[in-house]
Amino acid sequence: MAFDTIIRNATLPDGRKGQDVGVSGGRIVAIGARLDAEAGETIEAQGHLLAPPFVDCHFHMDATLSLGQPRLNVSGTLLEGIALWGELKPHLTHEAVAERALRYCDLAVSQGLLAVRSHVDVCDDRLLAVEALLEVKKRVKPYLDLQLVAFPQDGYLRSPTAARNLERALDLGVDVVGGIPHFERTMADGAAAVTALCEIAAARGLMVDLHCDESDDPLSRHVETLAAEAHRLGLGSRATGSHLTSMHSMDNYYVSKLLPLIAESGINAIANPLINLTLQGRHDTYPRRRGMTRVAELRAHGVPVALGQDCVMDPWYGLGQADMLDVAHMAVHGAPMTSREAIRWTFDAVTEVPARILGLEGYGVRVGAHADLVLLQAADPIEAVRLRATRLLVMRRGRVVARTPARETALTLAGRPSRLDPSSYAPG
Ligand code: FE2
Repeated sequence: MAFDTIIRNATLPDGRKGQDVGVSGGRIVAIGARLDAEAGETIEAQGHLLAPPFVDCHFHMDATLSLGQPRLNVSGTLLEGIALWGELKPHLTHEAVAERALRYCDLAVSQGLLAVRSHVDVCDDRLLAVEALLEVKKRVKPYLDLQLVAFPQDGYLRSPTAARNLERALDLGVDVVGGIPHFERTMADGAAAVTALCEIAAARGLMVDLHCDESDDPLSRHVETLAAEAHRLGLGSRATGSHLTSMHSMDNYYVSKLLPLIAESGINAIANPLINLTLQGRHDTYPRRRGMTRVAELRAHGVPVALGQDCVMDPWYGLGQADMLDVAHMAVHGAPMTSREAIRWTFDAVTEVPARILGLEGYGVRVGAHADLVLLQAADPIEAVRLRATRLLVMRRGRVVARTPARETALTLAGRPSRLDPSSYAPG
């Protein structure tokens, strides 16, 4: 047998060591210890972790890399970020949105991030960002899967043209129905928006992913409505609640009723630790609340939970580098969840779980899947999270699309020269 490419001596996310992976025609065609085969190209993995690509299930690509335009967010709150984005919106151009998005996709590929679900604001009658990102989606298709969510940033009911624009965006080819019920004028309007958006998703056979209860208000109840509507309409795993930060502040008794309702509905939950640990709790003095939803409790109830990045250098967040291991690392601290099992799970929460939420076809390190792979300078997934490991090589459909040199430091200490490889500190 002859392969296009063979990757030798890799460790797989499930713990199997010394594995060779054969690639032909853009697919994984064989996995096993010491495959006896010829190949056009041989890549030596040297025992490093070979993983499927990272998946970001919650992002805002129309706003990314716009930090400082037209000014910085002084209060650090979600609401000032929304206001600031509103100031920038009239000045956006198709070319500028596409250029920032394409630059971001380059960064994403370098980090082994090959699939992104991005919300795109439809509260602009020109639908300029929608058209720009639909063009970007086509252009990046050879190297990155971009799934778009029609997101009425200024409120589906609160903004006078949002409902019409959302339908127009879906007609143009935007994939998923979005919403922001906690930004509507009243709790009742928020609930009505959730119902209307879930009905649109059901009628069109689409997925729905709502920004839900992204506040510190312990009485915000939109995830309850989302779970109920998903149940009523049979949406199940086609529905997702993003952020869910109010759950952090909710009364424990109420949450004990809410969690089984979410689990029963079959919806997914997405936490965005980088953003919500910095946006939430801004009206507190001390103690100051963290802004993460109840990740451990959602998991314990069997709810599929993924971790998203949300923002990189935009009106809401001034840092970020398209690194989903940053997201996993921050989730460990923010939750906090420090057991080996939980840290290992955060790796799945930026790979396998969001791949299922997006409905990606042919995902994973298995025979028959797309040859979309990331070689990490780490011995296993926990070490990848600990080190936010270097992506030594990124492959898309069997073709190497990015390489980064291994991290290694030359030390000269007390006349004793040595070389330090960060991944040599793993526990045995
Ligand atoms: Fe978001």
